[in-house]
Amino acid sequence: MKEKIYLYPVWVRLWHLYNALLILTLIFTGLCLQYSLCNYLVISFNVVILIHNVSGIALSAGFLFYLVGNHFTPNGIYYHSVMPGRFRRVIKQFRFYSYGIFKKEDPPFPVSRERKFNPLQKLSYVFVMYIILPIIIVSGFGLLFPEILPLTFLGVSGILLTDLIHITSGFILSVFLVVHIYFCTIGKTPLSNFTSMINGWH
Ligand code: HEM
Repeated sequence: MKEKIYLYPVWVRLWHLYNALLILTLIFTGLCLQYSLCNYLVISFNVVILIHNVSGIALSAGFLFYLVGNHFTPNGIYYHSVMPGRFRRVIKQFRFYSYGIFKKEDPPFPVSRERKFNPLQKLSYVFVMYIILPIIIVSGFGLLFPEILPLTFLGVSGILLTDLIHITSGFILSVFLVVHIYFCTIGKTPLSNFTSMINGWH
């Protein structure tokens, strides 16, 4: 039997649950606002806006908590990538997911205390947490307080541009979520990664 490793401290698990619930709420209410789906719901448009705004602010607070947590605890180290050959390692992991796994090959980057994420996981988590989420949060605040936005930028309405950035990053995050959940099912068993996120042990 392989050694059990404690990989997900309580604060990561609590943040992750809080973050996931808020993101699901934001995607759902965001789609309602975008496509006027409230017509089919019992809730009014204004209530959906309120839920979206409050969830966005709560998500921002959670994001700050996550940044502080990663800065002051060893969990942040898993997001660093200073080793050379990063690209080659991502390709190797990609080849495993698209070919090797079906040939029952061993994973090229097995989980260990030193390496919680494989290169593709690390790339996607850094991309979504340190690029996409900040873009969504900043553009969301821009839409919440439109008076801080420039009237026009390069001849295009500032609100329109911010809205486009907000919606596009929301779309990217939604795609991430589907891919993320799918890849989480590729563990020792389809549920093992989810269990790890509940009890902390890999
Ligand atoms: C229903 C929604 C979600 C489920 C079921 C889920 C599931 C999981 C699971 C099982 C893990 C642990 C496996 C691993 O190491 O990757 C994980 C980790 C992670 N997830 Fe999710 N996730 C969800 C939503 C999200 C969202 C919306 C985000 C980001 C916006 C996110 C970001 C992350 C990050 C950054 C980690 C690594 C955390 C760390 O250990 O530092 N997840 N997720």
